[in-house]
Amino acid sequence: MDYFPIFINLKQQKCLVVGAGHIALRKIELLHKADVNITVLAEHIDSIIEQKQAEYGLTLIHKRVAADDVKGYRLVISATNDIETNQLVANACQQRDILVNVVDNPELSSFIFPAIIDRSPLVVAISSSGTAPVLARLLRAKIEAAIPPAYGQLAQLAEKFRDAVKQRLTTLTARRMFWENVLQGSVAEAVFNGNMVLAETLLQQQLAQTDQQVAGEVYLIGAGPGAADLLTFKALRLMQQADVIVYDHLVSEEVLELARRDADKVYVGKQRKNHSLPQESINQLLAELAKSGKRVARLKGGDPFIFGRGGEEIETLMQQGIHFQVVPGITAATGCAAYSGIPLTHRDHAQSCVFVTGHLKNDTIHLNWTELAAPNQTVVIYMGSVGLEKICQALMQHGSPSDLPIALIQQGTTKTQVVITGTLATIVEKSCACDYTATHADYHRHCG
Ligand SMILES: C[S@@+](CC[C@H](N)C(=O)[O-])C[C@H]1O[C@@H](n2cnc3c(N)ncnc32)[C@H](O)[C@@H]1O
Repeated sequence: MDYFPIFINLKQQKCLVVGAGHIALRKIELLHKADVNITVLAEHIDSIIEQKQAEYGLTLIHKRVAADDVKGYRLVISATNDIETNQLVANACQQRDILVNVVDNPELSSFIFPAIIDRSPLVVAISSSGTAPVLARLLRAKIEAAIPPAYGQLAQLAEKFRDAVKQRLTTLTARRMFWENVLQGSVAEAVFNGNMVLAETLLQQQLAQTDQQVAGEVYLIGAGPGAADLLTFKALRLMQQADVIVYDHLVSEEVLELARRDADKVYVGKQRKNHSLPQESINQLLAELAKSGKRVARLKGGDPFIFGRGGEEIETLMQQGIHFQVVPGITAATGCAAYSGIPLTHRDHAQSCVFVTGHLKNDTIHLNWTELAAPNQTVVIYMGSVGLEKICQALMQHGSPSDLPIALIQQGTTKTQVVITGTLATIVEKSCACDYTATHADYHRHCG
């Protein structure tokens, strides 16, 4: 390790910033967040810094810097673009054992600034030891995306209950297990949803019942149409903290790969004509798992509330008083539209859009064909491939023109997406002519 990472308490400590331009301002803003007593010294002080004087309580000194000016400061930052000035400040500080940072010059600095994720009181600092600051910033963006802004409130809540937990749980192991449950379970989720009152109540309950079974919960997660990078941050976070993953065939391998490695994975099937577990049994399974104290991620293709039977699953959970949350996902319609370049609405062609199911019941499809055949709208038909011929015929019989454009999209958003385009009159023949086992490239050659 070339640099030793520490967090210093600089509250009301005297710090000096030499230079007073834009770069100095960035450092001043950072120091101000830590409630530092800041002096700015420069021959010319930029008006943007003068404007901040009252707000940040800055002391402004208009003069050319001399070695003795650094005396009495805890920490000094040299933010000028003059090499001689920077060198002078660095030497003066090093001779007096004062911590010094020369912006963008690790050789002259005794400390460097990390890339920071500020979820105060929680702070994450990342450094490449001055070798590749851009890489550190890129990494920060990734970590930032994984840490919800409310983590700061979660840390505050933990601080509030620290003493009470210490009194109730006397061993280190018991406290560690308690906090692991609290910081990734229903208490944390209540904080992330902005419900601090519920979070405190749940924490108090869990503390009172530490020797009893902790209640589990269910996350009904929209896993999107297939491509893993279409998951939401929230979906990913909950998948990575769940003890059990319950999924069906619409959830792609790519998405499943992102679930917590050591979570139990339960496949509940649900392919057309091949329901591995009936819906009622799935509902009950979710409830039983949660009652046994597990955090259950129920992954559903697309969005759980769009032809996903999510409503039935939460009904059972509600009846049995089990905590749950629903995480929306990108539904097949919007995913396929985006990845095939076919907008769902268009000012010139479609002013509305409807989602319907083309699922066959007793070999027929019960839909309001007159409404669906009306012009100036986009009709998205889920589960429409088996009944395609019937759908096209019904639309034409109810007034849709035979040259109405239609696209058939399979495995939308994935690497194996297939798009077959045609009209109501031609699409059945075109789809039959295509070998569904051909590769993606072949499809576009033959069917595109
Ligand atoms: C039971 S529905 C579930 C829909 C899902 N809840 C959603 O919001 O996308 C399953 C149907 O959604 C459609 N579907 C789901 N994922 C798809 C994808 N990646 N590409 C094309 N269609 C898809 C297919 O019509 C499939 O038969």
